[in-house]
Amino acid sequence: MIFARLGPNETTDDLLISLKTTIEPWSWKKGKEISQVKKTILALAGKNSYKMALFLTGRSALFNLLKSLDLKRNDRVIVQAFTCQSVIEPIVALGMKPIFVDISEKDFSLDIENLKEKLADNTRVIILQHTFGIKPENRDKVVELAMKNQLILIEDLAHGLMSTSLATKEKFLNHFFLLSFGRSKSLSSVFGGGVVSQNRKIIKLLDHGGLEYPSYSFIMKCLLYKPIVVTVKTTYRIFIGKLIHKLAQGLGLLAAELTPEEKEGNFDQLLNKKYPNALAKLLLNQLKKLEKNNYQRAQVVNFYVNNLSSLRKIINTRTLHRYQNQPLVRFPLLLDQRDRVISHLEQKKIFLDTWYDSIIAPKTFPLKTLPGESRRSLNTCTVAFRLTKKIINLPTLIEIDQAKIILNELKKAIGD
Ligand SMILES: Cc1ncc(COP(=O)(O)O)c(C=O)c1O
Repeated sequence: MIFARLGPNETTDDLLISLKTTIEPWSWKKGKEISQVKKTILALAGKNSYKMALFLTGRSALFNLLKSLDLKRNDRVIVQAFTCQSVIEPIVALGMKPIFVDISEKDFSLDIENLKEKLADNTRVIILQHTFGIKPENRDKVVELAMKNQLILIEDLAHGLMSTSLATKEKFLNHFFLLSFGRSKSLSSVFGGGVVSQNRKIIKLLDHGGLEYPSYSFIMKCLLYKPIVVTVKTTYRIFIGKLIHKLAQGLGLLAAELTPEEKEGNFDQLLNKKYPNALAKLLLNQLKKLEKNNYQRAQVVNFYVNNLSSLRKIINTRTLHRYQNQPLVRFPLLLDQRDRVISHLEQKKIFLDTWYDSIIAPKTFPLKTLPGESRRSLNTCTVAFRLTKKIINLPTLIEIDQAKIILNELKKAIGD
């Protein structure tokens, strides 16, 4: 049984920390682990000048960051097509306009020429997404461009965090790193998000932003997630897992990734909260394993690169070598018969995923909630549209033997 989506980071030690935390409710909201998390993440950056603010989600981190900057309604925020709704909803909620830039097939990130074309007088922010944790090929050029044009640069590291991805130029105070610790990211505390920057003034503002903590019942649901998911994964083969999963969902024991309000296309204040200490405890355990897990991810990525690059039916074989040694959260492949391949592998109990199978994921995101100018810019992103129909994600935090099984089944499915 191999899952790309369900609790990719969760193992028995995470389950135990969660269970231990459930019986320590006095430490759920405030506690020393919050500052330990900040210290550990800032140590990865290796620079004393950085500071960090934490939030309940990445989307709430983005919302509060944009709100704290000197921005006006109708200001333009550059984002890439091939993204998720959590990036878009905070921008629209603040009355700003997301302007969509097409992506490059090489790194699933901003196409720099298209970015230059779409810059306008009221462009104030660029969000540079490191999709799947891939370092964008033109990252340094985008940094230069933002500095030269006095734009705010938000590097979206939600998918994955490596120490090198936190590097910045000295004195570029308009440079912010957006982090997520959601359940499907490379570090998971079920929910979580943060902003890292050397702009002390803004981080101080964010840290004292007057948000409330989530309720005890919400925190309890977060603490149940890891025990439930680890049990589901280990018992899925004998059907008990599937049953437990359905039961937990039916009884409302799991906090969904998106709220009903968010599914309608709106930013939801329900998840705009402080980061509670209970989740910091979960995150500290994940941080302890980050180096080991990133090493494992990079090994599996290298295995895929070495063994998939010669398969003729894979569309992006020529760019796979770029991912060598990168600890990607998921490995992106482009295939013509994506849906058929996914169902073939599902029959073999291999559950792959499709970040992103729509231009703004998930597919249910109502595009009509976007301003007209945003929609028009989105319609020009032809590469992104094409890739949403062909993308398939392979898991990376697995054993090499499991990667071999995926490879064999994939070859059978595509007939290569
Ligand atoms: C690229 C990207 N940025 C930001 C976010 C927001 O993260 P969160 O789910 O913690 O709100 C996501 C969420 O999936 C994402 O995919």
